[in-house]
Amino acid sequence: MKHDLIIEAIDVVKHFGDGGNWLSKSPVVQAVDGVSLQVRRGETFAIVGESGCGKSTLARVLMRLLSPTSGSVLFDGKEVSTTTGAALQSLRREMQFIFQDPFSSLNPRMTVGKLVGEPLEVHAPELSAQQRREKVADLLRKVGLRAEYAGRYPHEFSGGQRQRIGIARALASGPRLIIGDEPVSALDVSVQAQVINLLGDLSRDMGLTLVVIAHDLGVIRHMSDRVAVMYLGRIVESGTTEEVYTSPRHPYTKALLASIPTMGGKQGDRKATVLGEMPSPSAPPSGCRFHTRCPYAQAKCKTDAPALQGAGTDDHQVACHFWETIPNEAVIAETPQKTEAVEARFALYRNATDGGTVTHLLNQSTKRN
Ligand SMILES: Nc1ncnc2c1ncn2[C@@H]1O[C@H](COP(=O)(O)OP(=O)(O)OP(=O)(O)O)[C@@H](O)[C@H]1O
Ligand SMILES: [Mg+2]
Repeated sequence: MKHDLIIEAIDVVKHFGDGGNWLSKSPVVQAVDGVSLQVRRGETFAIVGESGCGKSTLARVLMRLLSPTSGSVLFDGKEVSTTTGAALQSLRREMQFIFQDPFSSLNPRMTVGKLVGEPLEVHAPELSAQQRREKVADLLRKVGLRAEYAGRYPHEFSGGQRQRIGIARALASGPRLIIGDEPVSALDVSVQAQVINLLGDLSRDMGLTLVVIAHDLGVIRHMSDRVAVMYLGRIVESGTTEEVYTSPRHPYTKALLASIPTMGGKQGDRKATVLGEMPSPSAPPSGCRFHTRCPYAQAKCKTDAPALQGAGTDDHQVACHFWETIPNEAVIAETPQKTEAVEARFALYRNATDGGTVTHLLNQSTKRN
């Protein structure tokens, strides 16, 4: 089915570093390594994965804040990865970024009015000072803040309010696409839902497209239409949020889903799930990058990188050689040399899953490659 796309990544690669020279070697970091994705106009698209898997790098390449090492980014069908000058200026207006940390992303010396009004000065220079003030008041109201806050400074606000100011600032240039890089993860859990709801309302009311980055699938469950799961610079699974939640195909997605804390679960629970550490992106494992942590890995997984392939329905794709045979039921590997630490993580892990119906991933061979 052909969809109306707003932004598209085609085989995007972003590597950092040049490998150094013969005197001093500095490894090349393969932060993003061949990512293709398509975001449809008006939808909320989520990118999920553990710390260091390349989410922010990918977002920055999409936003044209970084140029890709290779590959293409198309916005409205036009190549943007090489855009410069006036075309880049107008692109900046169309795509806005919301940062993770509302504490450091707002200049503490600027009033809220100035912070929200500044993009208007750049993108709507025709507005008079009075019109700009009115527009700022309007934007503040849109994000649920009082217009009179315009005269105050960022330190006078709570985290949630500051993130609202950041959102008002992002809306000021009248963008069509907003990319939020973990827009709520620095906030109190109680405030996260409010900000997520605000983003959802705004995108619906204003016809915005949202790309939201998150560490786990819990945060974005109720806000995203489609989701891409990243592991070590690559997409391992993508599909509608509904499909990915109800029929996860990739063992990594299954593990991430199992890591969503249940109601009443402790915050720390979510770290206890995908066992073993992610290998370094400067020395990623051969073949399937997940094979060093995958309990179902076979010989082929060590040598052949699986391509994203159709996994049943129209939209659902998975990059796993054996997705059709991986069980959905809990698989708890008992290991002879289980340490206390592993045992403790297991306990947390069991608590964090729904009666143990979700696949447990335990991999003893978690040595770094
Ligand atoms: N400018 C840079 N120079 C060198 N390496 C970088 C640079 N930016 C990111 N990296 C590396 O690229 C990899 C991916 O980083 P990135 O910030 O994209 O991950 P992430 O998924 O956003 O992680 P997090 O969830 O912690 O924000 C990491 O190993 C990181 O150290
Ligand atoms: Mg990041």
